[in-house]
Amino acid sequence: MKTLVILGSTGSIGTQALDVIRHVPGVELTGLSGFSNMALLAEQANEFTPPYLAVPSDEKRTELMGMLHYSPTVFVGDDGLIELVTVPMAILLVAIVGTAALSPMVEAIPRVPHIAIANKEVLVAAGGIIMEMVKEHGTTLIPVDSEHSALFQCLEAVQFNPNAIKHVTLTASGGPFFGRDASTFSSITPKDALKHPNWDMGAKISIDSATMMNKGLEVIEAHHLFGLDFDDIHVVVHPKSIVHALLETVDGAILAHMGRPDMRYPIQYALTYPDRVPTPFKQAPLTQLSDLAFFEPNRTAFPLLDLAIECGKKGGVYPVVFNAANEVAVQQFLMENCSFLDIHAIIVRFLNQFSNRHVHTIDDIIALDQEVKMTPMLS
Ligand SMILES: NC(=O)c1ccc[n+]([C@@H]2O[C@H](COP(=O)([O-])OP(=O)(O)OC[C@H]3O[C@@H](n4cnc5c(N)ncnc54)[C@H](OP(=O)(O)O)[C@@H]3O)[C@@H](O)[C@H]2O)c1
Repeated sequence: MKTLVILGSTGSIGTQALDVIRHVPGVELTGLSGFSNMALLAEQANEFTPPYLAVPSDEKRTELMGMLHYSPTVFVGDDGLIELVTVPMAILLVAIVGTAALSPMVEAIPRVPHIAIANKEVLVAAGGIIMEMVKEHGTTLIPVDSEHSALFQCLEAVQFNPNAIKHVTLTASGGPFFGRDASTFSSITPKDALKHPNWDMGAKISIDSATMMNKGLEVIEAHHLFGLDFDDIHVVVHPKSIVHALLETVDGAILAHMGRPDMRYPIQYALTYPDRVPTPFKQAPLTQLSDLAFFEPNRTAFPLLDLAIECGKKGGVYPVVFNAANEVAVQQFLMENCSFLDIHAIIVRFLNQFSNRHVHTIDDIIALDQEVKMTPMLS
């Protein structure tokens, strides 16, 4: 039996991962974590009876304990997540949103042989250091993000040989505002922005998709995961989200990874790698995957795409501040404290305020991330 811990089991990726492991043979759940949704965490825990759980506070622990039908160990607070990643396990799935996953990830790398990573903010803020740690400890790090899972599988076809690669392309759905007149963006509400055309995801990533920030974060994620130059990572809009990533080889082949937009495929691949295990989630017939149109992104209407890539290229403090400022701005937009267009303006103001800082270690990155998040939203 391979033991598995899921950080963030109550979220979109977490719940889909549980769907996957209901049918994958040989996986046994050892631990789960939740943050606000104790009713769902209790339901999951009662179904799978993992011996370890983690929750953010004593109040949440009490709430959870009242709903459990068995007696697991329940870790509490930020330290609780760290304790959860130190229990013996074969596989860790990191499905927490935001840089809250950074400390647990850093603790997990030396201990856990196989990490499936859905969280992208950690790689954006600290990808250089994380990848050095992964190399040092020989950790198997498999992306869950659909585009990166697709790219990983295309790269396997050329044995990850950099000399074989001309460039790679990540596809973007374009989000709910693809093709919309940018002069109407000021009236966009959180409800409009949360309506993703193809994917059913958590709130933060849905807003990131609407601003196209998500694709910018993914370019940085791909740069770190695969050691690719920023200029060799292209982005196209592909509204149907059928082709997830493409790799053009130096000898003129274009390898594409295709499939119905369903996160359970990349989750299953990341958990079972290097094996391939039959899935009950049926692919669509090719005749239903036929609309393969691709477009250039509108970089004027969605300036966060290029700002993300620029911050990724500059490195150091820039992606840390950029990412933390985006987490702040998205939360404020969701709470209706700022407009859709303010998201970009807020990030630029945070970058101006904090870009003279320096980060060298994980602790520097965590401290700066916290400082940005604690700074009153600049106006
Ligand atoms: N959803 C997708 O299809 C998708 C695709 C590709 C990549 N990703 C990436 O995967 C990550 C998770 O996305 P998601 O859509 O699954 O997000 P989500 O639905 O919002 O779920 C986030 C999970 O993290 C927990 N959480 C939230 N804040 C936390 C904190 N401060 N400390 C500890 N746990 C916390 C949540 O607990 P509660 O729910 O109990 O509050 C939940 O379990 C993100 O980085 C996202 O970019 C997601």
